[in-house]
Amino acid sequence: MKPEIRIYTNSVELTAAAATEFAGLAARAVAANNRFTVALSGGSTPRSLYSLLATDESLRAKIPWPETHFFWGDERNVPPDNSENNYHMASEALLSKVPVPAENIHRMKSENPDPAAAAAEYEGELRGFFRLAAEALPRFDLVLLGMGPDGHTASLFPDTAALEANDRLVVANWVEKFKTNRLTMTLPVLNNAATVMFLVSGSEKAEVLRAVLENGATKKFPAQLIQPVAGRLLWLVDEAAAARVSKERLIQ
Ligand code: 6PG
Repeated sequence: MKPEIRIYTNSVELTAAAATEFAGLAARAVAANNRFTVALSGGSTPRSLYSLLATDESLRAKIPWPETHFFWGDERNVPPDNSENNYHMASEALLSKVPVPAENIHRMKSENPDPAAAAAEYEGELRGFFRLAAEALPRFDLVLLGMGPDGHTASLFPDTAALEANDRLVVANWVEKFKTNRLTMTLPVLNNAATVMFLVSGSEKAEVLRAVLENGATKKFPAQLIQPVAGRLLWLVDEAAAARVSKERLIQ
């Protein structure tokens, strides 16, 4: 399925559109299956989305919080009370402000000093929650993703081992440039989602977004490997990030 690329004037409009999409997906998922499963992304771009979902009364009222289950696509190697922690950011911006049951918050236990064990534990949590048979993959209703200037997404960084870990759901991934491990869902899990929504904002992403969307690069960026096998791929980007993408590329 071809990606849907939507360009917004600025990050405020991008965030509003992402929040509307989130609320619509949540309502439809719960109407169909009595639950909405979402894997959140970290970093700075989604923070404003999470805040808007918590504070915009009309959006807040649309979202079936008791039936919504929050997971994370990746996590930094810091404890949950650290400001760099993705769960911590989402909890401060959203989860502590809405009536989502504690048992619906499925964070990666990054405080575990053994990242491989933390990854295995989270993989077990996914297998248990989704009641997966041995080789099966979880299918999230929504996977939220961002993209770094190097084309990484989740914690799938260029030239890292996690890009090849296609027999696992979650792995600890050594990221040399940060000299640290990250926890990340793997490509098969991300690509099994019903909807994958990238949020990309800012001029610092313009060059990598061009390379990723125009698919010209011989060396694949991790973000280019996000190709849902049976799902929608949405790119919600602002004009600053899309500044170098050729217009014909955008005609859907
Ligand atoms: C993380 C994210 C990561 C993020 C990109 C973009 O843990 O940091 O999961 O993949 O989405 O780094 O981050 P920004 O939105 O802050 O540019």
